[in-house]
Amino acid sequence: MESTTSKPRDASGSDLSEQIKAATKDSHVRAENTQLMLSYQRGQITRTQYKLLLCSLYEIYQALEEELDRNADHPAVQPIYFPQELARLEALELDLEHFFGPHWRKRVTVPAATHRYTQRLREIGKNSPDLLVAHAYTRYLGDLSGGQVLGKITQKSLGLSGDKGVLFFLFPGVTSPNRFKQLYRSRMNSIELTEQQRREVLDEATRAFEFNIEVFDDLQKMLSITGEASSDKGNDAATKMESKTFSSSPVLQFALGVGITLATVGMGVYAF
Ligand code: HEM
Repeated sequence: MESTTSKPRDASGSDLSEQIKAATKDSHVRAENTQLMLSYQRGQITRTQYKLLLCSLYEIYQALEEELDRNADHPAVQPIYFPQELARLEALELDLEHFFGPHWRKRVTVPAATHRYTQRLREIGKNSPDLLVAHAYTRYLGDLSGGQVLGKITQKSLGLSGDKGVLFFLFPGVTSPNRFKQLYRSRMNSIELTEQQRREVLDEATRAFEFNIEVFDDLQKMLSITGEASSDKGNDAATKMESKTFSSSPVLQFALGVGITLATVGMGVYAF
């Protein structure tokens, strides 16, 4: 129940689902306007961009879904725990195998921002499971909203036939995304939170968007460094960055095994 002294941060009602949407409205606009998402909206996504995005999504969903599984019985997780309908990890593994082949695990390369995002997911999974709903909301409801359009754009832009490589966007366990989103919102609203916890969830949702924006920005930097932001010919950052961990100081140059040189400004790359 809302106290009179501690009101929700917006005038959009007292349901968590409404508050979280209002609290992340500006962040959503910023996420939509990242270079990567703009490429998507222009139908200009390249194979390299998509492969790099899949690598980061794989790391993110691995952390998110492991933490959700581990906390499945927690009262703030149980109502929004829908592994049959929502889990993305297996689909991502198949998509990565499609693009990188049977040894895809050795080829997964992610920027530092992805590493920070997964660290945060692990930390809250361990210490503050109440906040997992903010991350699950940001990713899964996004996937069931704009994500559905992104799947079709990916298929068309990359000339993919059938479901191969785009399983991530498909939710065979969800018949109607809109109806499922309604159910998910009602489950979110059933979570009992103190006013303090509710504020923390709203803050965490903004952070979740921020993590995503940073990942997209880092991916775009990786691509521009290798000169592939708008071209898919020749080099392939996701294929070529195969060293373990790179952390860089400003304007450090790394010559990777295969001969591409990276000039990075404060960016680290992690390959798992
Ligand atoms: C090209 C980029 C994107 C487009 C075009 C897009 C578009 C949309 C649209 C049309 C909706 C439905 C709004 C509604 O039902 O009222 C939506 C909802 C949503 N999007 Fe996005 N989106 C994009 C990127 C993202 C990203 C990057 C995230 C987060 C990582 C995200 C998270 C969400 C969430 C959580 C919702 C559910 C909002 C709610 O109903 O509470 N979106 N998006």
